[in-house]
Amino acid sequence: MSLRSSQWYGGDDRNSYIHRAWMRRGLPADAFNGRPHIAIANTASDLTPCNAHLTEVARSVSDGIYEAGGIPLNLPVVSLGETQVRPTAMLWRNLAAMATEEMLRANPIDAVVLLGGCDKTIPSLLMAASSVDLPAVVVPGGPMLTGTFRGQPLGCGTDVWRLSEEVRGGTMSNEDFITSESSMIRSRGHCNTMGTASTMGLMAEALGMVLPGIAGTPAPDSRLLEGAHATGRLAVGLVEADRRPSTVMTRASFHNAIVALAAIGGSTNAVVHLLAIAGRLGVDLSLDDFDRIGSDVPLLVNLQPAGTGLMEDFFRAGGLHATLAQVRDLLDPTAITVTGRPLVEAITGAQVWDREVIRLRNEPLIEGAGIAVLRGNLAPDGAIIKPAAASADLLQHRGHAVVFDSIEDFHARIDDPDLEVDASSVLVLRGCGPRGYPGMPEVANMPLPARLLEQGVRDMVRICDGRMSGTAYGTVILHVAPEAAAGGPLALVRTGDVIVLDVPGRRLDVEVPADEWAARTPAPQMLAAIAHPTRGWEQLYVRHVQQANTGADLDFLVGSSGSEVSRESH
Ligand code: FES
Repeated sequence: MSLRSSQWYGGDDRNSYIHRAWMRRGLPADAFNGRPHIAIANTASDLTPCNAHLTEVARSVSDGIYEAGGIPLNLPVVSLGETQVRPTAMLWRNLAAMATEEMLRANPIDAVVLLGGCDKTIPSLLMAASSVDLPAVVVPGGPMLTGTFRGQPLGCGTDVWRLSEEVRGGTMSNEDFITSESSMIRSRGHCNTMGTASTMGLMAEALGMVLPGIAGTPAPDSRLLEGAHATGRLAVGLVEADRRPSTVMTRASFHNAIVALAAIGGSTNAVVHLLAIAGRLGVDLSLDDFDRIGSDVPLLVNLQPAGTGLMEDFFRAGGLHATLAQVRDLLDPTAITVTGRPLVEAITGAQVWDREVIRLRNEPLIEGAGIAVLRGNLAPDGAIIKPAAASADLLQHRGHAVVFDSIEDFHARIDDPDLEVDASSVLVLRGCGPRGYPGMPEVANMPLPARLLEQGVRDMVRICDGRMSGTAYGTVILHVAPEAAAGGPLALVRTGDVIVLDVPGRRLDVEVPADEWAARTPAPQMLAAIAHPTRGWEQLYVRHVQQANTGADLDFLVGSSGSEVSRESH
């Protein structure tokens, strides 16, 4: 077997001398003699608290690599703390993917173990690995344990939204709200709801990119380190088998990921991330595939935000394998995992240990609960809604639009006593797409007007060209494409227009006479709110970002460049 790393280390000329000499630093004498060099792409960072424990995980991976005869090499890569980075972590997902891709390609490695957790980290790692297409495997960092406040479990994110709405509605004091803060994050690990981080860890396994059985293991559980160790050993075997992301992540794998996404009630953010990963691999995946494959799949997992449990409950109840075993007939049996064996084989015999947390197929939480894709004169290229997180009585709705031109405009006016809004209104927030904000922030789950909260209103139809947190809930139509800032019709809507939502009919329309609609121009206030960055990454991003319906990747990053680098550095 000819190793890629031997292009650097093989031979007895001056260049190979330089590559070896600088890397020796205590490595065994035979380290450059046919042993695979495996990078551990590590997103551990104190500023990404959800991933801070990954350095310990990396040590177990490293032990496994050594044990199987490889050489482990720690490779710190760009990390993104969802709650910390401004203006939104999504602005930096493609930057992280691009930087990681180039470092994987530039360095003398034969395979990579990808360590991620917090929302954007697993997507960016998978995008990078797909574009380099070296053998790769993911270890998801795992969720934190369940926190409690005054005897009640706390779900990260979801309960922040719920408690803050209670403060605004007058049913909880702000003092009690702040007291709950120290109970929210109980342990190491990422958010413990079925938010984006939990979803993407499970998606990585459903795609076949995780050693089966690891995704969803809580971060403090010793079985995570055991799995990390086994993954290190597997990574060495991947080199020998020449099993690459393009070998594993086929269209069949994306089919299975979409089935899994619906069955677990996963985050809407998975739609843009899966589309972006598929784009890197050249897999023909479209927004409509999510509706076609996933919308009839039953919701089986009773976790926040769609239900009540948290990831610790999910793991105890049997996790992803027990869930997928319930919908095994819907899975594509040809999809394989990093082991080289079919995913359906890995889930054989998986049992549900708690039927309140993971429902049996004949007792689902909701029938047909996958992502629905809407089209109409407000969203010609599509928009999505997660019916499992929405109010059933709002899935068919007519209401007058109340339009906001930016998130700042929204915050300035939503509690204005003069704002004409009632429970039947449709809140429209624009200028929050990939290009307009820039970075497509998680603002679509707009807080309801305090005056309506006080009246007991807990949900309204909301429409936005941005995203919403995977921990959020409500009748929210999001990822509207094209976005307002890219010339989408959302830019033409005015307060008072009648908007018609028909989720069963998959329609989202505004009722304005055709001649009046044709004569409208984008609202000047909205145009004024659009960002126009003049340098750096933000400018590059705004010039090249694509719309949500294709994954919001940069146009020049779609596809793969492989792992070859033909020129020497000296
Ligand atoms: Fe990191 Fe939620 S903030 S996963």
